[in-house]
Amino acid sequence: MLDKARGLAADQVFMDIEDAVAPIAKPEARKNIVAALNAGGYEGKTRTVRVNDWTTQWTYADVVEVVEGAGANLDCIMLPKVQTAEQVVALDLLITQIEKQVGLEVGRIGIEAQIENALGLINVDAIAQASPRVETIIFGPADFMASINMKSLVVGEQPPGYDVGDAYHYILMRILMAARAFDKQAIDGPYLAIKDLDGYRRVAGRSAALGFDGKWVLHPDQVAAANEVFSPRQDDYDHAELILDAYDYYTSAEGGARGAVMLGDEMIDEASRKMALVVSAKGRAAGMTRTTAFTPPA
Ligand code: GLV
Ligand code: MG
Repeated sequence: MLDKARGLAADQVFMDIEDAVAPIAKPEARKNIVAALNAGGYEGKTRTVRVNDWTTQWTYADVVEVVEGAGANLDCIMLPKVQTAEQVVALDLLITQIEKQVGLEVGRIGIEAQIENALGLINVDAIAQASPRVETIIFGPADFMASINMKSLVVGEQPPGYDVGDAYHYILMRILMAARAFDKQAIDGPYLAIKDLDGYRRVAGRSAALGFDGKWVLHPDQVAAANEVFSPRQDDYDHAELILDAYDYYTSAEGGARGAVMLGDEMIDEASRKMALVVSAKGRAAGMTRTTAFTPPA
């Protein structure tokens, strides 16, 4: 898996020492991860390691071994089951000491905070601001469902009996608000039924629609679905670029210095430009090319 991840069209690869690794295999996992990071081949992807959470006995050794052994080839530490800002501060202090000790640039390694229980969620604003290292807030649906006693075993799908909307809406929105308020990335967690790509698309589509920046993939087959769902549709991307060009033109002296104009059947103004910037940024990041051009009126 560590090897296969090198060739995937994913923006990030995260290597796990937490829940996907059996307790007796954790020392070996640390070594495999350090060796894989140092061997390279993940260039262009955010290289992240998920350590165990602070309520276990493993976190300090995970961080020390991975950052001492491969800190130069590592971009982020993912801290799962974060419950308080202090837990983020503790990780920040530990990473800082290791960076100083081994001569790494202090502060370069980021933190991805995974929100997986009620306490973490109600503290998410403080968690997001706990350290300048925090780059990303992640929703961990499986642990979260367990932690709030949700009566379901199917991650991401609606709990049977809940027929009045999306049972995850509040959680997703809460995380998204913290991420946007403090300029962090918001990432949705795993979809476990790895053969059900339609299910993946459906669930990913909800967080993508709200404004999340991405979602985990557990299997290579989910990569293309994730990239598709989090990219704008071609006509939306084209429309966004058109709005930007049109607004640029109409607000200029040449275009009449107007702040609100008609573009086709739609009135556009400064707020339209801001919405278009969001969609266009997602399209550009996905490497899309526009298929229409704006032509100023003759
Ligand atoms: C991921 O860690 C999850 O609990 O969903
Ligand atoms: Mg989890």
